[in-house]
Amino acid sequence: MSTVPGITLNDSNTIPQLGFGVFQIEPKNTTEAVGEALEIGYRHIDTAEMYGNEREVGEAVRASGLDRSDIFVTSKLSNASHEPDAAREAFDTTLSELGFDYVDLFLIHWPLPTLYGGDYVSTWKVLEEFHGDGRARSIGVSNFQIEHLKRLASETDTVPAVNQIEVHPYLANEAVRSYGREHGIATEAWSPIAQGGVLEDPTITRIAEEVGKTPAQVVLRWHIQRGDIVFPKSVTPSRMRENFELFDIELGTEDMEAISALDRGEDGRTGPHPDKFDHVPS
Ligand SMILES: NC(=O)c1ccc[n+]([C@@H]2O[C@H](COP(=O)([O-])OP(=O)(O)OC[C@H]3O[C@@H](n4cnc5c(N)ncnc54)[C@H](OP(=O)(O)O)[C@@H]3O)[C@@H](O)[C@H]2O)c1
Repeated sequence: MSTVPGITLNDSNTIPQLGFGVFQIEPKNTTEAVGEALEIGYRHIDTAEMYGNEREVGEAVRASGLDRSDIFVTSKLSNASHEPDAAREAFDTTLSELGFDYVDLFLIHWPLPTLYGGDYVSTWKVLEEFHGDGRARSIGVSNFQIEHLKRLASETDTVPAVNQIEVHPYLANEAVRSYGREHGIATEAWSPIAQGGVLEDPTITRIAEEVGKTPAQVVLRWHIQRGDIVFPKSVTPSRMRENFELFDIELGTEDMEAISALDRGEDGRTGPHPDKFDHVPS
């Protein structure tokens, strides 16, 4: 039933290009929101230990009546658990919170180059263990800059399957995306509509009117045509539905270029800078 294309990762696994993100969804609302998303047809859920709602994601998957194997679930390592033994323990906890014996994709959430002696390499080697024992079907990173990716390439054996980074029309993040493209690392674009911050842009609203779609649909379609993976978040069923209806239009070259031209570089960044971010949950 799903019209969502799959992207083949560098480990031959396939990820649905469109999913549903659950950052900032309260645990008490998560089972219902994910249940609704699955009902609409989403088959890819993006959570994280730091979102505090893995348990409810697992509950929604079980309550849906769908086969576990039909749903692609990603989670991420907490910033508090980068040391190898802590990472092993955290991954066990993630699986037990989800109530699964594997995740489809597990990521290092942030590189934290100013913490843990800057040693995200040892952390990555622990993720290689999870991949090796089959409990993480794919492994990847999030918020890694080019120098972080280069270091993994020179000091470890596995190229991350994905790098999940902030990307939207105001922050194209082109250098990191193109490093990924050249090295077989798929880009996942987080905050794809900049948490709503790009939806009133006159270029976006003009194109939306011309193609008969909403601003959110135009922006999400732009990501899809660029080949990135997206998982917009919403707790509003009508928006969840809207964000899923992206496969009956094709933006023309001029529209694609006009949206790409909105890039503000670093001024467009809405989240923390990966080189500096050092938040560790207590
Ligand atoms: N790896 C990382 O460090 C990182 C960081 C941030 C996000 N992420 C991931 O990326 C996912 C998406 O990013 P995000 O949640 O930050 O932001 P987002 O998806 O760009 O935007 C979500 C916001 O936009 C609103 N919205 C959703 N659809 C809309 C529509 N069609 N029209 C108007 N408003 C709409 C939502 O409101 P309502 O919910 O009220 O409808 C919510 O406030 C997260 O859930 C998470 O999975 C990862």
